[in-house]
Amino acid sequence: MSLLQPSEPIEIMKQKAALRALETVRSGMKLGLGTGSTARYFVDGLGQKCAEGLEVVCVPTSEATRAQAAELGIAMAELGALGRLDLTVDGADEMTRDLHLVKGGGGALLREKIVAAASDAMIVIADDTKLKEHLGAYALPVEVNKFAHETTAASLEAVFASHGLAAALSLRGGASPFETDGGHFIYDCVLGKIEAPHELAPALLGVPGVVEHGLFLTYATGAVLAGADSLTELGDL
Ligand code: A5P
Repeated sequence: MSLLQPSEPIEIMKQKAALRALETVRSGMKLGLGTGSTARYFVDGLGQKCAEGLEVVCVPTSEATRAQAAELGIAMAELGALGRLDLTVDGADEMTRDLHLVKGGGGALLREKIVAAASDAMIVIADDTKLKEHLGAYALPVEVNKFAHETTAASLEAVFASHGLAAALSLRGGASPFETDGGHFIYDCVLGKIEAPHELAPALLGVPGVVEHGLFLTYATGAVLAGADSLTELGDL
């Protein structure tokens, strides 16, 4: 078994961050496996370590990650059967130095948040272009129930407006909407700078029809950000 061999500089950075996070994994751990192009390198490296004898049991945050982990022979279990996890390693669409994240670009935000919330630690892995002064440059994904989703979107617009945000919402996939693993739709919300994410987050969950949003404000405990010639660590690893 050999590791993925990326050639694009940005992909090499993602793999570098993933392999640094992998160094923190020990036999006996219960792990959450993230979703996305960066998490994919972590799962790939983990598969190699498991083949060499590392013993872990993992909970994937998406069907895509489940399929990759299964192919690599990584042991998995249901989160409900494991209870708390020791560590989740996942990517992010953007993050700040205080470890606030926007996630959901890959559409797995609901399971990612459930798994992160059940984890004692969460290490974010990313290329260093994801590090921002403020959240909001990336469109915030909001997962909604399919029923009357246009009504939910209108209510979301009103919530954004009441928080001083002139939002532009678009249904992911447009005429052929993207469907999440949970069978929901996603609205990508272009907001600009989010001044008060801690106030916005609970307001979004107050909208009937909203299943989850991509603001992860209390979960990450550490981060590894890879540049072309650098590796920056934030928080605890
Ligand atoms: C998946 O839903 C997302 O939260 C991803 O973790 C996030 O989009 C980062 O993905 P990349 O590593 O592909 O940039």
